[in-house]
Amino acid sequence: MTDPLLAAALAARAHAHAPFSNFSVGAAVEDDAGRIHTGCNVENATYGLTVCAERVAVFKAISEGVRPRRFRRAAVAADTDALTPPCGACRQILWEFCGDIEIVLLNPRGKIESYRLADLFPKPFDVTYL
Ligand code: THU
Repeated sequence: MTDPLLAAALAARAHAHAPFSNFSVGAAVEDDAGRIHTGCNVENATYGLTVCAERVAVFKAISEGVRPRRFRRAAVAADTDALTPPCGACRQILWEFCGDIEIVLLNPRGKIESYRLADLFPKPFDVTYL
């Protein structure tokens, strides 16, 4: 995997805390300075408090000083043949903090698909309605 963003998403899977689903997800977001911020899913015994890999990556980046809408791309890695897309909650968070960026989905066998977030998440609710 030569693209550092994709390699980072794949590597982040190794840190997943997924004892309930055994479904490890890694995510990575690239900011407009070219820095990469990673995340993995972190599950909880309540199930409902589980946080997806994508949200961990975005919140880590924001907490480290990246400003909203200063992201270029995101990647999501899981071990599925039909590539795993971000859940609805993550699409909302990705839209709010990243806007219409490229979302790359991949698996460990090198299958890759690329989408625009606006296509995955049409007609979003956002700050423009407030
Ligand atoms: N999960 C993610 O981290 N990202 C996705 O895009 C899909 C789902 C996690 C949440 C939960 O820990 C596990 O995968 C099964 O749903």
